[in-house]
Amino acid sequence: MPDAAFSIASSENLDLFRRQILEWYDVHKRDLPWRGETDPYRILVSEVMLQQTGVERVRAKYLEFIARFPSIRQLAEASTADVVRAWQGLGYNRRALNLKRTAEIVCRDHGGRLPDSTSELERLPGIGRYTSRAVACFAFGMQVEVVDTNVRRILSMVAGRPLNTRETEDLARALLPPGRAADWNQALMDYGALVYRAKPARTGKKPEPFASTNRFWRGRIVDTLRGHDTLSLTELLHMLAYPNRDEQRVRTLVHALHEEGMVVYDVSEDRVSLPH
Ligand code: ADE
Repeated sequence: MPDAAFSIASSENLDLFRRQILEWYDVHKRDLPWRGETDPYRILVSEVMLQQTGVERVRAKYLEFIARFPSIRQLAEASTADVVRAWQGLGYNRRALNLKRTAEIVCRDHGGRLPDSTSELERLPGIGRYTSRAVACFAFGMQVEVVDTNVRRILSMVAGRPLNTRETEDLARALLPPGRAADWNQALMDYGALVYRAKPARTGKKPEPFASTNRFWRGRIVDTLRGHDTLSLTELLHMLAYPNRDEQRVRTLVHALHEEGMVVYDVSEDRVSLPH
């Protein structure tokens, strides 16, 4: 516990804050399809989706995804193209690829069961500090703090000054109510989303990337391929309606996507598709 954050937020105040948040949560908690879920695979899917996509959009896509890939083994055995297609509307497609790779590794090396330690979870593709802790806490009942940027903002308010990552985690750990870490962490998230957020609630849409960025065009390339088994590069260029038909830039992006395993580019045929 860092002295600084603790001295500003006295232990009585912390206790009061904890009680108030939990009481608020009992009344106002959101009814989300992954709430109360303890299947580690389902928790992982929801938390990877929530990494960069708003709750309202994730709500619908999560149910579709779980219906399409009900178990980690079914995800591991699916074609990458199908997984990337199921990711449509969520953005940041690399997460779909990492989730599929994680499923393959878990089935190959862990007998189809996600590991229950944060350090082992963090060795899997696409799982960082936040996601490993969310899975450990929500699926395996570990009493650990789960800290995202919203939680950091709330706890900075409690401490009365901006906290860095380390200080936020220390304060979050000190606040954990014994035995109720999962409720507590999700209470803070809901409080952050419903009460603390100064701006109007997000509509669930991800921010539209600028049309000039590589990220925008990478997304457009993958979106276009979702609708086709395979396209020649020329067909792809026409469908993209790329400004000035800057073929070289599209080729460079396709090469990079191929290197990452997001698309398959057959150089001799000059054709591109989602991976099978
Ligand atoms: N954001 C990230 N994970 C969440 C969860 N489990 N509940 C609500 N919002 C979240």
